[in-house]
Amino acid sequence: MNIAILGNQWGDEGKGHITHHLSKDYDWVIRFGGGANAGHTIYRNGKKYVHNLLPSIDFTHDHIKGFLGSGMVLDLEQLLKEVSTAEQDFPGVGSKLYVDPDAFVVLPEHKETDKANNKHIGSTNRGIGPAYADKVMRKGVRVIDRMNDGDPIIASLSALGVQFKGVLELKEDFESSRLLFEGAQGILLDLNHGIYPYVSCGDATVAGIYAAGFNFVKLDKVYGVAKVYTTKVGEGPFPTELHGDEAESLRKLGNEYGATTGRPRRVGWLDLPALKYACAKGGINSLIITKFDILSGMEEIPVAETYEKTPTSSKDFFNAKPNYVKLKGWKDVKDYNDFDSYDKIWKFVDYIEEQVGVPVDMISKGTSTRDILEA
Ligand code: IMP
Ligand code: MG
Repeated sequence: MNIAILGNQWGDEGKGHITHHLSKDYDWVIRFGGGANAGHTIYRNGKKYVHNLLPSIDFTHDHIKGFLGSGMVLDLEQLLKEVSTAEQDFPGVGSKLYVDPDAFVVLPEHKETDKANNKHIGSTNRGIGPAYADKVMRKGVRVIDRMNDGDPIIASLSALGVQFKGVLELKEDFESSRLLFEGAQGILLDLNHGIYPYVSCGDATVAGIYAAGFNFVKLDKVYGVAKVYTTKVGEGPFPTELHGDEAESLRKLGNEYGATTGRPRRVGWLDLPALKYACAKGGINSLIITKFDILSGMEEIPVAETYEKTPTSSKDFFNAKPNYVKLKGWKDVKDYNDFDSYDKIWKFVDYIEEQVGVPVDMISKGTSTRDILEA
């Protein structure tokens, strides 16, 4: 069984939490695109961790290996920091991590260029865009170049057990293993299919897996993760965005502050036309809806059912006019005996499935593993 877990909105959907939970049933967790602009929040034994580059592996299980694929742009110093931190709590994890030598490297000047040039996009300033730009300009620096130059950071990573091997060197292992591909950002931030130019520069759709060289892999399921409301960091169109007090209260309830930058996230209601667009563009065949706990206690929950014009191009999100419906809310998802609340949640889920035309296979209602339920 091979699966992908992709972001179905603008990132921060809870992919890290879901990946962490499912990872024990897989042999490899593979990042294939993006870089340290990602912020994947994970809770292990009640302690909060944020991974920017490392896959969201449950390190309490020894058998899981991690791979950083060639579609990524890697800040090697950041990687060293993350591996060192992981080693403190989970000694030996370094030796279970592999880096594709064909991946590109983020240089200090890339971060400077981001700060100087990409304010209007709301970049995370991690040097992602400029690193990808150099790659496309055919003047990028790859991990293999750094290895050949005897970079001391590569040596430090190797000393921690990190191995530098490409997809073809590991192909036999991959072919006889269960693979979980962990997306970064979200389909609406994808360079090709997101809301250009307000996008990141990595691949957030299923295409990114193949672009990173995994052409021999058959994916049994491609999950799209979406929150039961919507958030966005950075600039660009956001059709269901809330403002003022309403926004502030949802932001507080959901603790919607960027895991990477600490910025307050923009917040709004669930946007079904956007969800549907992202499923179609991203190759999603199953949905996972998260954060049901955050909306607990609302009488009615607004949901954008349609736009005046159904989006078929990213252009259609500019000045989109959503039409809302109000669905019945639930009281308390923490109380398992509150059958009425669960009934309302499953009705809400049925409605999403019907509107989007993609099954919802899982939901999440909290940060612990037992808050993830099969639908
Ligand atoms: P960049 O990838 O840092 O250049 O940022 C480009 C846009 O994507 C900005 O609006 C960022 O806020 C957004 N972005 C990049 N990575 C993430 C992420 O992991 N979660 C949410 N937004 C992101
Ligand atoms: Mg995030």
